[in-house]
Amino acid sequence: MKAVVLVGGEGTRLRPLTETTPKPLLPLVDRPILDHVLDHLVAHGVREVIMSSPYLEATFHPFIRSRDGVPSITWVTERKPLGTGGAIVSVLDLLGDEPFFALNGDILTDLDLRGLRTSHDTRSAAVTIALHEVDDARAFGLVERERDGRVTAFREKPRDSVPGAINAGTYLLDPAALRSWNPHTTISIETEIFPALIGRDLPVFGFGGDAYWLDLGTPEQYLRAHIDLLAGKVSGRVYDAPWIGPGASIHPEARLGTWVVVGEGGEIGGGAGLDEAVLLPDAVVGEDVVIERSIVGPGAVIGGGARLLDAVVGGGVRIAAGERLEGERRPAG
Ligand code: GTP
Repeated sequence: MKAVVLVGGEGTRLRPLTETTPKPLLPLVDRPILDHVLDHLVAHGVREVIMSSPYLEATFHPFIRSRDGVPSITWVTERKPLGTGGAIVSVLDLLGDEPFFALNGDILTDLDLRGLRTSHDTRSAAVTIALHEVDDARAFGLVERERDGRVTAFREKPRDSVPGAINAGTYLLDPAALRSWNPHTTISIETEIFPALIGRDLPVFGFGGDAYWLDLGTPEQYLRAHIDLLAGKVSGRVYDAPWIGPGASIHPEARLGTWVVVGEGGEIGGGAGLDEAVLLPDAVVGEDVVIERSIVGPGAVIGGGARLLDAVVGGGVRIAAGERLEGERRPAG
């Protein structure tokens, strides 16, 4: 099977981490988010992947070279951002006539893609949309369905906290359903293509389940994904907690809580205390630093005695000794 993986967003909500590294290439414990996504696809029978981006595209090339074998990856450069729908429509020529998967490249899930395929075939669907049940749908659009799972409407973000099924960013699509769109224009699959297909009465179905699912779009969710992986909540992934990357050095008098990831080559000084913290590769943490509920970008240096609480520090940034960051994002420069 083939899949289109959407990797071309700017990742604005994850700045400053995404200023130099596109979101799908940010590490997730031991390897880039995109490696997790591709491994999941391969485990469910996908052999060919098409990816495109208009943004920081050169940074994807070493990643693609690092993945030899399955899946084969075809790279397409977008001349302008085509949006989540345009990026798919513009590569239809590469996909043939069989249904294919399309998915956001910034989601951690153990969704049963084979089950989704079976559901799609059984219902003779044109589109099957993976759904995820949430208790509070305010941050998402809600997907309304009939009893048999047929999607009847996409509702905008509700104002009040209500439970419901949301679009989980993974689809199985019949290429014939998409051929009427112009391949050179910017289109949203969520707000333009799906509502139009439903309006034309095409068979659009939802596929629910109890899979683990998390969109890694914000610092809070990115941190949560690390904690959930360490806690064994994502099936098929096993990590030690805390997780210490290869070549990292931890002073014997540093205190690491359970939900801590120290990326490859990181250094933690004596007396430092870390809890619910993600340090990307080569971060250096001085003596007596406190880091809680925070993310430290690659190669950042945190001066002795500094305190980081609910903070995000960009790659290569230096935090002065004794400085206190609370609820702050610190970009480079
Ligand atoms: P924010 O700016 O923080 O909202 O993040 P984002 O740019 O990644 O947007 P969003 O999370 O809504 O995007 C969903 C998925 O679509 C992500 O995997 C993006 O990489 C991808 N995406 C968004 N816009 C484009 C685009 O114009 N082209 C391509 N190829 N992918 C896109």
